[in-house]
Amino acid sequence: MTRLLVTGGAGFIGANFARLAVSRGLEVVVLDKLTYAGNRKNLAGVDVEFHEGDVCDEALVDKLTRTVDAVVHFAAESHNDNSLDDPRPFVDTNVTGTFTLLEAARQHDVRFHHISTDEVYGDLALDDPQRFTETTAYRPSSPYSATKAGSDHLVRAWVRSFGLRATISNCSNNYGPYQHVEKFIPRQITNILTGRTPKLYGTGEQVRDWIHVDDHNEAVLTILAKGRLGETYNIGADNDHVSNKQVIELICELMGAEGYEHVADRPGHDQRYAMNSTKLREELGWRPRYTDNHTGMRQGLQQTIAWYRDNESWWLPAKKRTEDHYRERGQ
Ligand code: NAD
Ligand code: TYD
Repeated sequence: MTRLLVTGGAGFIGANFARLAVSRGLEVVVLDKLTYAGNRKNLAGVDVEFHEGDVCDEALVDKLTRTVDAVVHFAAESHNDNSLDDPRPFVDTNVTGTFTLLEAARQHDVRFHHISTDEVYGDLALDDPQRFTETTAYRPSSPYSATKAGSDHLVRAWVRSFGLRATISNCSNNYGPYQHVEKFIPRQITNILTGRTPKLYGTGEQVRDWIHVDDHNEAVLTILAKGRLGETYNIGADNDHVSNKQVIELICELMGAEGYEHVADRPGHDQRYAMNSTKLREELGWRPRYTDNHTGMRQGLQQTIAWYRDNESWWLPAKKRTEDHYRERGQ
């Protein structure tokens, strides 16, 4: 596999993936609509063939898909809070967009890898020690996670009904460079860098199984190279014991900042996500670098904080708009 179509390649995870894939000698074609979350600058200095466009545009998707060996589908509306304000773009991009790509991949017999999330499994109670496995029943809570769940079902149906050569990966919450300032970790880092107070939803006892974006993308490359067709692989770095409150306190400590405030909680807020990634580790030999609960995450956060410190011109234009929007919601 040498030439990949990377949808959403100007977004956070997709751009980091495009960088990594090009550094490994792969040819990358990016299709990205450049929504508020996409930024051409995320690919600065990376040798990709870039196409601005919508994954729902059948003719464009068909034209690009026929030229590649594989599609790696990252493009999505990705923020839960936005899906509560306006679910429509989530249904369009996440469901119809995935359908459009699947049809093109089927038509041209192109290998397909679908990027999904742990949020399709719903949430666990805070005191539930279980982790999600690939066979955990789907129980999505928000319009975002419901549309991602819908897209996963479409991929499985295309495998079963049409023999599409596809794999799916469900990953936990990512952090790292180029993440939009609307998301939890970059929001707090840039709040501190701009003299704002970090904002914790509700009590902050919720748990996310944080993974560094590079660990996620190494897993995707591994699945593309060695994954069994038709299979789903969970991706997680065993950071599922750190609450939002602990993350915010760690960011404050690492940045020498004092105090944070509790703001309005998210309606329907999922409590705990935790991934069991044994299948990926045992079958395909993948291991995360930034793991080990607190130590690995501390190292990943230090690196991420340094990146935001050094790249103010990248995030500052979106910061005020994002905070104005949050303020309207009491967050
Ligand atoms: P992001 O919001 O940073 O980037 C999404 C990208 O998709 C943007 O560049 C945007 O312009 C593009 N896009 C949106 N709609 C499009 C359309 N209709 N046509 C073409 N391009 C379009 O998202 P992200 O955090 O990088 O997430 C990427 C993928 O990874 C998503 O599928 C998401 O569900 C999944 N995922 C994310 C996380 C996470 O923690 N961020 C965790 C697990 C899985
Ligand atoms: P987020 O980054 O939006 O990811 P997701 O909704 O996919 O988990 O939020 C991560 C967690 O952080 C989630 O429990 C909500 C919480 N949160 C805050 O406490 N404060 C914030 O400012 C934001 C954006 C999120």
